[in-house]
Amino acid sequence: MNLPEAMDRAREKLNGVCRVCRVCDGFACRGEVPGFGGAGSGASFMNNVSALAAVKLNVRVLHGASEPKTGTSLFGVDLKFPIIGAPVAGVRINRMAGVTERELAEAMICGPAMAGTLGSGGDGAVPEVFDSGLEMISRRTAGRGGIVIIKPVSQEVIVEKIALAEKAGADAVGVDVDAAAFVNMTLAGRRVEPKTPKMISELVAASRVPFIVKGVMSVADAEAAAEAGAAAVVVSNHGGRVIDHTPGTAEVLPEISRAVRGKTKVLVDGGIRSGVDVLKMLALGADAVLVGRPLAVAAIGGGAQAVKLRLERIGEELKAAMIMTGCPDLGAVDTRVIRGR
Ligand SMILES: Cc1cc2nc3c(=O)[nH]c(=O)nc-3n(C[C@H](O)[C@H](O)[C@H](O)COP(=O)(O)O)c2cc1C
Repeated sequence: MNLPEAMDRAREKLNGVCRVCRVCDGFACRGEVPGFGGAGSGASFMNNVSALAAVKLNVRVLHGASEPKTGTSLFGVDLKFPIIGAPVAGVRINRMAGVTERELAEAMICGPAMAGTLGSGGDGAVPEVFDSGLEMISRRTAGRGGIVIIKPVSQEVIVEKIALAEKAGADAVGVDVDAAAFVNMTLAGRRVEPKTPKMISELVAASRVPFIVKGVMSVADAEAAAEAGAAAVVVSNHGGRVIDHTPGTAEVLPEISRAVRGKTKVLVDGGIRSGVDVLKMLALGADAVLVGRPLAVAAIGGGAQAVKLRLERIGEELKAAMIMTGCPDLGAVDTRVIRGR
C-alpha cells in the first residue's frame, strides 16, 4: 500500500471524524473534541499551522552540503531523523470507527520503530488505551521501545503507570500536563489535575528512565519543568485540543528554547506536516519534533507500514530542505535558516 492509498482508506474508515484534508489545518474539524479537531473555535489548532506558515526560509544553494546528516540521539536512543511519533490514542471517545485501540497503538509505536525513530503510547479514560501502548512497546520492534505519556491523574496512579511503562521497556515516560482540565477525561468522569512543580519533581524521582513534561506553552512552565529535573519538555498545545485561543507552538518556541535549551531537551509539536516544517521548528530552537495527526491518519489507513512511509517521506523532505538552506547537519540548523531572524 502506498501513501495516497492509505489516505483514501483512512478517509473511508474515519467516515467524517477526520476528513483527511489536503492540508491538515484544523478548519474542517474546528470544535470537534472529542474527535480529531481543535477545541472551541479551533483557533489553537489553526494557529499551530498558520504560525509555521508565517516562517519563511533563507534559500542558500551555493555550498557543498549535498548529503545532509539527519541522525541524532535522544533518551539514549539513536534516531535516523529528529522526528518522533506523538501519542494519538482514544479510539472510542474520539469516535475512530474502523480501527481498534490495539491496531492504532501498533501502527503508532511499531511504525516509527521500523522507520528508525520512536513512537509514543497515550493514555485515556479507559484502561485499554494505556495497555495497548505498553503491549506494543514491549514488542521492541527493530530493537526499539517507545515513549509513554500518562494523563495528569493522581500522583499515586501516575507512579504506578510509570513503573508499568518501565517494565514494558519504555525509553522515556512523561505526563501531558496540559490535559489538566481535558474534556475527554472530564466527560468520562475521570479526574485530572494541574501538577505543581513539586509534584513534577516527585514524578522525576519516581522514574528510572528520562521524564518528559508534555504541554508547555510558557517560559515559566518550561523553567519549572527544567528545575524539577525533566529530561525534556514538549512545547505543545495538545494539537489545539485542550483550550481555545492559544498561540501556535512555533510562536512561543523561540523564547522557551532560549530559556531552557541545554538544561533540558526542547521538543515541539503542533501542525508539523512536512520536512520544511521540521526544519523551521529546529531553526526556531527545537532539538526534535513530534508529529500527530498525519501519522494517525496513515496508521488508520495503512497500519505500521504506512506510518513508516509517512515518517520516511518527512525525513526525505527534511534532507531536501537542509540542502536548500545549506545545512550539512542538524548542528548547522539555526536562526540563519530563517528570514528576518
Ligand atoms: C485524536 C487525538 C488523540 C490524542 N491523544 C493523545 C494522548 O493520548 N496523549 C497525549 O499526550 N496527546 C494526545 N494527542 C495530542 C498529540 O500527542 C499531539 O500533541 C498533537 O496531535 C500534535 O499536533 P498535530 O496533530 O497537529 O501534529 C492526541 C491528538 C489527537 C488528534
